[in-house]
Amino acid sequence: MRFLDRAIVASMPLVPRFLIGRVAARYVAGETLDSALDTIRELNADGARATLDLLGEEVTDRAKAESATDEYIRVLEAIASNGVDSNVSVKPTMLGLKIDEDFCGEQIERLVAAAAGHQNFVRLDMEDRTCTDGTLRIYHQLRQRYSNVGVVLQAYMRRTLDDIAAVAGKGSNVRLCKGIYVEPRSVAWKGYETIRLNFLAALEKLLRQGTYVGIATHDEYLACGAVALLDKLEVPRERYEFQMLLGVDGELRRILLEGGHPLRVYVPYGREWYAYSLRRLRENPEIARHVTMAMIRRRGL
Ligand code: FDA
Repeated sequence: MRFLDRAIVASMPLVPRFLIGRVAARYVAGETLDSALDTIRELNADGARATLDLLGEEVTDRAKAESATDEYIRVLEAIASNGVDSNVSVKPTMLGLKIDEDFCGEQIERLVAAAAGHQNFVRLDMEDRTCTDGTLRIYHQLRQRYSNVGVVLQAYMRRTLDDIAAVAGKGSNVRLCKGIYVEPRSVAWKGYETIRLNFLAALEKLLRQGTYVGIATHDEYLACGAVALLDKLEVPRERYEFQMLLGVDGELRRILLEGGHPLRVYVPYGREWYAYSLRRLRENPEIARHVTMAMIRRRGL
């Protein structure tokens, strides 16, 4: 990232909330479940599936983690009663991973059991490196009793190729993404091309082991590499899907859908949109630059 971009991105927390809110409208499907359901209906009409993410992370109090689990169970009920094509994605720290791993496992099990009752599916998002072991342990425990739960592996983590050997196999379900948290070089690959290399190596290993893969990227190089791998390994459409974030590169989304590939869009919603939107801006200095310019113009600087 260029110096100016880095400076702009670093200044994002100083930007007024309402301005971030305007940008958030592109990445977040509103504050309410009803608005999220409207967005999902539009995506479904375009041929895309969805995964709903109730915004919020790192809960430090048991009651809050329990009520987040209850809210997610209501989301599953609403998905079923509205007949939309969506599963759910959840951040383990929102369901108490940083409070107590067993407690978090119980909350996630409540959610996965409720999803099973609706023939639906729960994806455990992967957070920073302090969460990797706990999230994978919870995933492994649940996989012994449920088939409707999946996890995420991050291509920037050097451990990922080893983790694949442990999570992969028939019936398992992994989303592969680059990884969004800032990790030290001691645990993570840092080079842009290096991470791409590891993404494709990890994807090939997952596909060869028979794992269902959610190929989560907006990087055209990786989308192209993935399409080539799927073709080379003759992977049927029932064994993979592409995944993209709401508001990012609608053109690539259409290209993949028109190419006949299954595709799921990650749809975040809820009142805690601020931290999520800041992360999105950090990933896209171009939009961050527009936001900063709008703020400067408004202040007459
Ligand atoms: P890259 O960052 O190179 O982006 C390619 C192009 O897309 C660039 O032009 C870029 O500007 C644009 N772009 C990418 N992200 C953008 C954004 N947010 N806003 C605007 N433009 C953007 N990470 C994680 O650590 N744990 C997780 O559980 C998940 N879950 C997840 C689900 C889904 C469905 C997706 C698509 C991504 C994630 N991620 C994630 C985030 C992921 O790790 C990664 O940070 C982003 O996808 C960006 O990486 P790309 O592969 O898209 O490439």
